Amino acid sequence: MKIAVVGCGYVGLVTGVVLADLGNEVVCVDSHQEKLDKLRKGIPTIYEPGLEELLQRTLADGCLRISDSIEDATLQSEIVFIAVGTPASEDGTPDLSAVQEVAEEIGRAIVRKAAPEPSPPAPSPYPSASLGIGGGGADRHTVVVNKSTVPVGSGDLVESILRQQGAPPEAFDVVSNPEFLREGSAIHDSLRPDRIIIGARRREAANKLVELYAPLERPMHITDPNSAELIKYASNAFLATKISYINAIGRICELAGADVGDVAKGVGADQRIGHQFLQAGLGWGGSCFPKDVQGLVSTAEKLGYDFRLLREAAAINDAQTERFVERLEQSLGGFGGKRIGVLGLAFKPNTDDIREAKSLAILRAILDRGGSVAAYDPVASPHVEKLFPDVCYVDSPYDAAAGADALVLVTEWNEFKQIDLARIAAAMRGRLLFDGRRVYSRQLAERAGLEYHTIGS
Ligand code: UGA
Repeated sequence: MKIAVVGCGYVGLVTGVVLADLGNEVVCVDSHQEKLDKLRKGIPTIYEPGLEELLQRTLADGCLRISDSIEDATLQSEIVFIAVGTPASEDGTPDLSAVQEVAEEIGRAIVRKAAPEPSPPAPSPYPSASLGIGGGGADRHTVVVNKSTVPVGSGDLVESILRQQGAPPEAFDVVSNPEFLREGSAIHDSLRPDRIIIGARRREAANKLVELYAPLERPMHITDPNSAELIKYASNAFLATKISYINAIGRICELAGADVGDVAKGVGADQRIGHQFLQAGLGWGGSCFPKDVQGLVSTAEKLGYDFRLLREAAAINDAQTERFVERLEQSLGGFGGKRIGVLGLAFKPNTDDIREAKSLAILRAILDRGGSVAAYDPVASPHVEKLFPDVCYVDSPYDAAAGADALVLVTEWNEFKQIDLARIAAAMRGRLLFDGRRVYSRQLAERAGLEYHTIGS
């Protein structure tokens, strides 16, 4: 199939290369020249395992093209994905301005595409019908697919924008097809999603996506567009709440002398609950959970429902980091003049994404209160350096520990799990190990001569 993907961020780029790898003709569109230059050379603009190889392969075999023109891409494609960002605006509602701008351009291109040929070979008595899917002019019909995470009702908004631009209703369909990939395992998740959600008003439009995704051989759920949009928010908010729930249980464990790791293992063994997303720690960050939880709270509020459960999940999440920093400060007797080693800056392992990363709040608190920081992350340091130029960025966990009064683990990269704690202890000035992700065992840390502090036990 001929596909356009507008927006070369996480979702767009991964979707584009994966669809190209399945043998479709894909054009990925973005407006940032620097990004386009890199992508054309086969250099991914984000760190994601497996992406570089797939990008280079699909560019080389001609299945993937990179472009700056939404119009050209729309004219050439039967399916156009909108995969631009929807960041939270100040009041917590998702900012849809990028989606709106892109929809306007797509709308104008649909008008051109649907316009009758200058000299049609055989005039049809039903000119408009020939634009529909399955009609004689199927190549002039466009399925506009919203992949960005958007509040319920956004499909209707896109549809009204396309109409405002003059696009004839029979020339397009708007479909909601939310993305569930996780950063760090994005390629795998795109190829093997648990489910594919297709929200469409017309069965023919849904079928177009069913056909596109058929090679993946994964379960597909066809719904109306509003339900599809809500499925995405409801899923992310549920997972975020699950993490906040286990962190609240972790708090009780600390008070009661229990261990949240053991509790989570026992709870997760119930198949109705499951083991995933019961890892207690500093809580959730990233570009999705914080934004989508806020987005659902504000959508509910607009509809007249106070989603107190979700507001509490967010409050528990914020408190996780604040309490961790307070405990660290207390143990150190204040941050003034103290040196803190920080392990991990990305919001989670296997990504260089630092949006809403717990590391940022922790660095801010330490620096604001007079401490200094030496930080190590396998890939994310350059991004954090732009925000915190006063932090010393080092090349190994041992360099972060050198001369430190306390060592704090913020992101559970695999390489930290293999660390030699005795060597860490020898490099440090103090003894404090603060493990924000429950990576080490108390026994191992104490055997190395460290004073172990963690969350949930
Ligand atoms: C999340 C969802 O998992 C994806 O399904 C969704 O497509 C994506 O958002 C999105 O909306 O685009 P992502 O933000 O990449 O994916 O990362 P997750 O692996 O879900 O982790 C989110 C946060 O939860 C991280 O800060 C992680 O450290 C934290 N987490 C995760 C825990 O604290 N405990 C856990 O048990 C699991």
